[in-house]
Amino acid sequence: MKKRNERTPEQLSLLVTGGAGFIGSNFIKYMLEKHTKVSITNLDKLTYAGNLENLKEVENNPRYTFVRGDITNLKLIDRLFRRRNFNVVINFAAETHVDRSLLKSSPFIQTNIIGTLTLLEAARQHNLGRFIQISTDEVYGSLNKEGNFSEKSPLKPNSPYSATKASADLICRSYWKGYNIPIIIARSSNNYGPYQFPEKLIPLMIKNALEGKELPVYGDGLNIRDWLYVKDNCRAIDLVIRKGRIGEIYNIGGNCEKSNIEVINFICNVISEEKNRDKEELKSLITFIKDPRGKAHDFRYALNSSKIKEEIGWEPTTDFESRLRETIRWYLKNIEWIKRVTTGEYREYYEKIYGKNHQKIRDSK
Ligand code: NAD
Ligand code: DAU
Repeated sequence: MKKRNERTPEQLSLLVTGGAGFIGSNFIKYMLEKHTKVSITNLDKLTYAGNLENLKEVENNPRYTFVRGDITNLKLIDRLFRRRNFNVVINFAAETHVDRSLLKSSPFIQTNIIGTLTLLEAARQHNLGRFIQISTDEVYGSLNKEGNFSEKSPLKPNSPYSATKASADLICRSYWKGYNIPIIIARSSNNYGPYQFPEKLIPLMIKNALEGKELPVYGDGLNIRDWLYVKDNCRAIDLVIRKGRIGEIYNIGGNCEKSNIEVINFICNVISEEKNRDKEELKSLITFIKDPRGKAHDFRYALNSSKIKEEIGWEPTTDFESRLRETIRWYLKNIEWIKRVTTGEYREYYEKIYGKNHQKIRDSK
């Protein structure tokens, strides 16, 4: 008889944490559709960023179970391990927004560090095949105009968010070295796609443009991000589960560097075409504000993903503009979703970051 960690991928029992968020919900749908024998338990606390509506399509799927709970709750996780014989844990659960981490870091420490530690502790008690830690390129810190980050680059996180993610990565490493927990770390660049919470650049700009509100650009708008389509990331994580080497780190980059202002201009162009709105009027909403991140605002990210390409055969798709257009169309069609997920808490948060106390540097002209 096969041991649990020798099962074929089609027979896996997965514990996905944070599956009601942006990437996690895309991943669950991707996996259930792609692998007909995979079963998934989604453990999610349902913070402001977690929405079960993101998973409507699969809620009645017999291979999918939702459990509301916190990844810092060892008793609950232990009970789930006993009941469901997980082969693989994929830890997406996190506090994820840099700006919020600068307002208050304690939830980040609690979930991102203590939560990861708790999952690893549970894994120590059970026979797990793989523990996939979902990490980020932000652990490497900031780049100037040249160069990129490889898996060997030093960790130099600059915000409380990225510091907690880097800490979690190091704890994972120590549980691999110290207790032989079969960890793999996946570090991706900025994801875009459907169901991203509208506190992040792309959905926030779409929401504000539709509402005729200011499009707040931090600083000069020249910071650069390496954009990765969320479904490309899901495909990469699926491959890492099946083919990744235990104890290793894999960068998952979009190979698609864009300045923030380029992305915002593109969004304005697409909305103007799709909604028949005046392009210049939309662009006049662009407002350069004093950077709320200050020195913690990383200038540029760029990932070298040659390791995952060479070892596992993954590459991102290349058509950023058509993927982003498709994404914008999704938000335009799902404007009610945007409204539902941005309730009272969102308005309070918005006021703190973008309210009158934040200095406007100049408008779009
Ligand atoms: P998200 O903010 O959209 O979702 C996070 C999810 O985690 C939510 O459903 C939330 O309810 C849940 N959660 C938070 N605290 C929890 C807790 N204590 N217990 C259980 N569930 C909890 O996040 P996302 O953008 O989908 O990111 C997912 C993961 O990917 C994170 O680990 C993030 O650091 C990483 N990541 C994200 C990006 C990106 O561009 N979005 C890029 C690289 C890495
Ligand atoms: O790089 C991976 C990371 O990408 C993930 O680890 C994080 O969880 C995820 O939130 C994302 O972090 P960023 O800080 O890069 O993403 P965000 O969408 O918040 O911001 C992207 C850029 O846009 C950044 O340079 C700040 C800028 N920005 C953002 C907002 C929300 C603005 O200029 N105006 C805004 O209103």
